Amino acid sequence: MTSFDVVFQGSINNPEEFWAEAAKGISWYKEYDKVLDSTNAPFYKWFVGGKMNTCYNAVDRHVENGCGDRVAIIYDSPVTKSITKITYRELLDKVSIFAGALKSQGVEKGDTVIIYMPMIPEAAVAMLACARLGAVHSVVFGGFAPNELAIRIDHAQPKLIITASGAIEGKKTLAYKPLVDNALELSTHNVNKVILFQRNIIKAEMIEGRDLDWDELVGKSEPADCVEVDATDPLYILYTSGTTGMPKGVIRDNGGHAVALYWTMKNLYDINPGEVWWSASDVGWVVGHSYIVYGPLLQGSTTVFYEGKPIGTPDAGAFWRVISEHKVKALFTAPTAFRAIKKEDPKGVFFEKYDTSCFECLYLAGERTDPDTLHWAENLIGVPVIDHWWQTETGWAIVGNCRGIEELPVKEGSPTKPMPGYDVHVLDDDGNEVPAGTEGNIVVKLPLPPGNLTTLWRNDERFIKSYMTTFPGYYETSDGGYIDEDGYVYVMGRMDDVINIAGHRLSTGAMEEIISNHPDIAECAVFGTDDKLKGQLPVGLFVVKAGVTRDSDEITAELVKMVRESIGPIACFKEASQVLRLPKTRSGKILRGTMRSISNNKEYNVPSTIDDPLIISEITDTLRDMGYVTK
Ligand code: COA
Ligand code: AMP
Repeated sequence: MTSFDVVFQGSINNPEEFWAEAAKGISWYKEYDKVLDSTNAPFYKWFVGGKMNTCYNAVDRHVENGCGDRVAIIYDSPVTKSITKITYRELLDKVSIFAGALKSQGVEKGDTVIIYMPMIPEAAVAMLACARLGAVHSVVFGGFAPNELAIRIDHAQPKLIITASGAIEGKKTLAYKPLVDNALELSTHNVNKVILFQRNIIKAEMIEGRDLDWDELVGKSEPADCVEVDATDPLYILYTSGTTGMPKGVIRDNGGHAVALYWTMKNLYDINPGEVWWSASDVGWVVGHSYIVYGPLLQGSTTVFYEGKPIGTPDAGAFWRVISEHKVKALFTAPTAFRAIKKEDPKGVFFEKYDTSCFECLYLAGERTDPDTLHWAENLIGVPVIDHWWQTETGWAIVGNCRGIEELPVKEGSPTKPMPGYDVHVLDDDGNEVPAGTEGNIVVKLPLPPGNLTTLWRNDERFIKSYMTTFPGYYETSDGGYIDEDGYVYVMGRMDDVINIAGHRLSTGAMEEIISNHPDIAECAVFGTDDKLKGQLPVGLFVVKAGVTRDSDEITAELVKMVRESIGPIACFKEASQVLRLPKTRSGKILRGTMRSISNNKEYNVPSTIDDPLIISEITDTLRDMGYVTK
């Protein structure tokens, strides 16, 4: 057995012993009574009886331990041409005073707070300040439209909203405040206070009596101390796309989350306290929660907060510049970012301009790493390129390559092996284990390790139905794939109606719900088609109601606008076409999978239950006219 196998087996055979050892990395006000409580499975609880505070662990204790002068956050913003370094001591000042500001507005333990902010350090300050008070934050990604924000406001019922005046997205300056105002008009939940961080790049109009200026409020606030919470109390809600328009509110607890993330920093990513770590994502996504904010800060390392893109801010050398300038040891990003760099600078001319000798490893996740991108990156940068697989629900990697324990050989197309704590299996649709090399449903035997979702916010029923019902005793990942003879896992893609656009998870079901609201539409289907840059892009086919004779391009333009306005630009919904009918089974199920395969020029099976086999050739012709079918 390799040293990794020993650790892995220990975690599966004796999970309580394993995680109790890991829990030593966290400072507890009161040690837990029980590592794992399985009495109400599948609502497993980690570190029951433990008292702690996540913000204390991420900020205060590093200052108390004499590391106050260490840089906690490097804010590197090519879009505003600024670089700021914030030490742990400065972070403590900012967070405790902002927590005081929240407290002055009535925010208490257990309250929810929505944060709608761009990639500025104030977003982390806001998250940590909520954690400090035991309040539950819910960060909403800035690329979501007011309607999506309103859905989250109504579901999370925040006491207040924290936002900023705007963002620079590539070369565009975007106002955030009108989006928040609009969302508050759309939502039914009453929010009395909005705290607004005014940025120099754009000024927001304030609404008298409701909006509070961040700086002014902080100026008259007193610092607030950490509030003791139960390890099992919620730290945050993060909404993620499901198969319908209603996103799932994934809940993360305090104790298990802190233990797991702390453990991964060294064991998975091989980062030590004080080293510079960069996760090039956004605080609005799970990667941003776990590895821009909480993971590195819990460990006491330095996290790079990057407000820019891999290309265009200003060029395809941006990543190399940041690595070189801040002595980044390891970078975590989505393969899309590297595909974008590869497209702009295939020969790596920009790479040659910078001294990146500090750089030891590139971690990729969010979508499958295609072999082309893997090899291109490996050859160019000459360091290991490590794929790892995870989901918003899990909060950290399910399958990865634990470089801090033992680096395993990379096999292209595989994120390597199940991580300690995850007992991964592949089952057929009837729940039987399939032989090595055979594709099926990837599942994880319960209990899930600490740091995974504990339930869905105010929806235990949906938690059970979405994840725990199809394969009793297992967590259903909704990803398909296989495990080879060496135990390497291969993740081939989602089995449901979730698609992955540039490493972002979006619901085709949600897009269909919006399109169906168009007065001329009888029915529609949206599915993901492969895209060289973004991995997948949505494509829509629609049937109009009897008697509608309008120009189909006009209708398409309206649908594109509706999806953009309802979900946001991040949905990247730009292509749709009218068809006479959609392929369906006799029971009325639309054959989205078949259409997806056709559009991707892949082999497909037409189910024997298809209503009318002739529709397939009509659909193929339409997808050919749209430029997808090339064979
Ligand atoms: N606020 C508002 N709008 C946003 C936004 C934000 N935070 N982030 C993205 N958008 C908008 C973009 O401006 C774009 O709008 P447009 O249709 O008007 O051009 C749209 O949403 C799609 O954005 P994106 O997918 O980022 O596409 P892009 O063409 O601007 O950039 C890449 C392409 C490849 C450079 C970009 O997708 C990228 O950096 N990918 C890496 C992904 C990543 O880090 N994922 C993290 C998950 S681990
Ligand atoms: P999200 O919840 O937004 O992180 O998206 C999770 C989904 O992204 C997973 O269910 C997978 O479909 C996909 N995904 C994430 N990482 C990988 C990876 N390394 N390989 C393949 N798919 C991935």
